[in-house]
Amino acid sequence: MSFPATRLRRLRRTETLRALVRETSLSLDDVVMPLFACPGEGIVRPVAGLPGIAQRSVDEIVREAEQLVGAGVRAVLLFGVPETKDADGSGAWDEDGVVQRALHALRAAAPGLTLLTDVCLCEYTEHGHCGVLDGDTVANDETLELLARTAVSHVDAGADAVCPSDMMDGRVGAIRAALPDTPIVSYAAKYASAFYGPFREVAESTPAFGDRRGYQMDPANGREAVREARIDVDEGADVVMVKPALPYLDVIRRVREAVDVPVAAYNVSGEYAALKAAAERGWLDERAAVLESLTAIRRAGADVIVTYHAKEVARWLQG
Ligand code: PBG
Repeated sequence: MSFPATRLRRLRRTETLRALVRETSLSLDDVVMPLFACPGEGIVRPVAGLPGIAQRSVDEIVREAEQLVGAGVRAVLLFGVPETKDADGSGAWDEDGVVQRALHALRAAAPGLTLLTDVCLCEYTEHGHCGVLDGDTVANDETLELLARTAVSHVDAGADAVCPSDMMDGRVGAIRAALPDTPIVSYAAKYASAFYGPFREVAESTPAFGDRRGYQMDPANGREAVREARIDVDEGADVVMVKPALPYLDVIRRVREAVDVPVAAYNVSGEYAALKAAAERGWLDERAAVLESLTAIRRAGADVIVTYHAKEVARWLQG
């Protein structure tokens, strides 16, 4: 069948018809908001590249979480910005660490909120790399036990799921062995990306030397992402994540087709910053551009989206 019998415009005539046949939906059920916990009290420390996002002390994290819950956000991903750092990143698994304290407080104040945690050492090491060093390379196997210890401490403090983002080989297996009952959302295909710039400012995790290309993926590779995802599923991951999202929609699609577990995508800090900056200048309609971008991530195959836009999206979707 072709024109004139076929006219695709027929189903585009009214918003109700368009809604009836819409293939992809965006729902707060599928959205996760990142939060950054720092020491102290009454602290909300905004960051330049991430308008609306701040480091927050535990009491302020609780206030923010209550607002998020009120707006309809169902899940958060916690990062920690500790007081002190050391060579091994021992603040990561400190039972009195900043993420662990935030977890206890959130568990009590917002019982319905799902608490995910980022499991990585880079915010806790003085050199800013995602594992312990051997000379100036990150020692894979020595790091695994520390990651598992960190994940266990998060679960002991109340985490619902843990999200290893370090990109060491074998970390999902190591965490799975320590936590048979905890959902693992692995950052399976995490690229060495320029789009993490604003995050490193808020998380204070810029490497002191070198870069992360020795463990994060080469942006030129797609097939390798499928291998990463399959390996993580074999090691016991419940959800695999692709990160960043918008420059990697093809990777989301390939991973979606290669594995049967849910796929998450991380709409990272640089993606957020780019839209915010353009919107601030009046160059883009923020609401339309954000909803279109997140819908595109869903259309590519993501079941779950981690995004700094979550709070505004909640307002737009409810309002
Ligand atoms: C920690 C981590 C990073 C991000 C999430 N977890 C940064 C990095 O690997 O340098 C980036 C998130 C973002 O840019 O929004 N390893």
